[in-house]
Amino acid sequence: MLTSKGTLSAVLAASVGSAAAFNSQSFSSSTSSSRSLSLSQLGATVDPTVVTKKEYQDICGVEFDDSTLANRLAKTAYLYPKHVEVIDDFAPLVDKMVDEILLETGDKSWQPQDFLPDLSRDDWIEQTKDLREAAAGVPDELFVVLVGDMVTEEALPTYQTLLNTFEGCDDPIGTTDSAWARWSRGWTSEENRHGDLLHKYLYLSGKTDMRAIEVTIQHLITSGFNPGARKDPYRGFLYTSFQERATKISHGNVGKLAKSYGASDLQRICAKIAGDEGRHEKAYQSFCTEILKRDPDGLLMEFGDLMRGQIVMPAELMTDGKDAHLYENFSSVAQRLGVYTALDYADIIEHLVNHWKIGDLTGLSSEGEKEQEYICRLPQRYRKLAERSMNKKKEEETVAQSFSWIFDRKA
Ligand SMILES: [Fe+2]
Ligand SMILES: [Fe+2]
Repeated sequence: MLTSKGTLSAVLAASVGSAAAFNSQSFSSSTSSSRSLSLSQLGATVDPTVVTKKEYQDICGVEFDDSTLANRLAKTAYLYPKHVEVIDDFAPLVDKMVDEILLETGDKSWQPQDFLPDLSRDDWIEQTKDLREAAAGVPDELFVVLVGDMVTEEALPTYQTLLNTFEGCDDPIGTTDSAWARWSRGWTSEENRHGDLLHKYLYLSGKTDMRAIEVTIQHLITSGFNPGARKDPYRGFLYTSFQERATKISHGNVGKLAKSYGASDLQRICAKIAGDEGRHEKAYQSFCTEILKRDPDGLLMEFGDLMRGQIVMPAELMTDGKDAHLYENFSSVAQRLGVYTALDYADIIEHLVNHWKIGDLTGLSSEGEKEQEYICRLPQRYRKLAERSMNKKKEEETVAQSFSWIFDRKA
């Protein structure tokens, strides 16, 4: 694999030396003197109008057309060759999911504009007024959670970048026609609607400080996030199986609360987004089901290892440049409102363990059996921990924090 720019330029530099041989002019006129020339000087003797692309390819042993290059970049020097082989094996199923089950595109698909005032219409002021009146009845604390969820969605460039690091699931040339690359782009195109829609809704609501929010988004994308996937598709899909369910729960609960305050339009928005997350969740979980059919030991080892650390939330590194504890403060409002709590975390683990029937797996290695036992005990353990931490929180007095997102009002 051409692992770095350095390697690539070394290959090209070496080939330039030999390529001079194809330049009949320079070869015949300077055979003896060229031996003492440096590589860069040799490079200058290559006339690209004389050395053909085919000759370059022969010298380098690499064809430079997109599909061959993509193939080479994808098929060499994997850290997890077995894991790549396994996910390759069910690529036809992924293909089917992209086309039939998961992703709708274009006109058939919902778009953010379907849920927002149409500013090109004569009655745009009335439409916008309706939105703002409904939003006025929604308390600040729910807006804080909505903003946190929106900021998380808006860091989508980070997530697509990460998805492309999962070996065998990447899109090496940007238009790769493999099932996994199509999945990666299709998933991103659906997710892109979420931040878009929430961002526009918040803008029109007039309730939030859009500049402070934009600052937070820029910081978050700059900071990045490390889910501990380590380029491994198994770990990546375990993580996304968890995370898609978590976002489904969070958006769904924000929607329900919004409705209770009379903002049915916001409820519809959140429900639509939660629906996408639900489909994504199903997909990622079925990817893991397919892995379990082929390599149960392998997946359990990664599942156990991932769970020994905490699941990192995608927006943990968020900052507005003012509040050093912005993420914690946002999370504690979400927990207080029951939008996303420690119990939800335990529920998700339990759901995954049951959905994949981890306890029923047979034919495992002794190490695999150990992990199986460990994983099956997790839901109960997390539930106890969650109950304890939530009870403790209830006893503590709630201290409202000010958020730049709502013009430094407290929530
Ligand atoms: Fe999303
Ligand atoms: Fe999602």
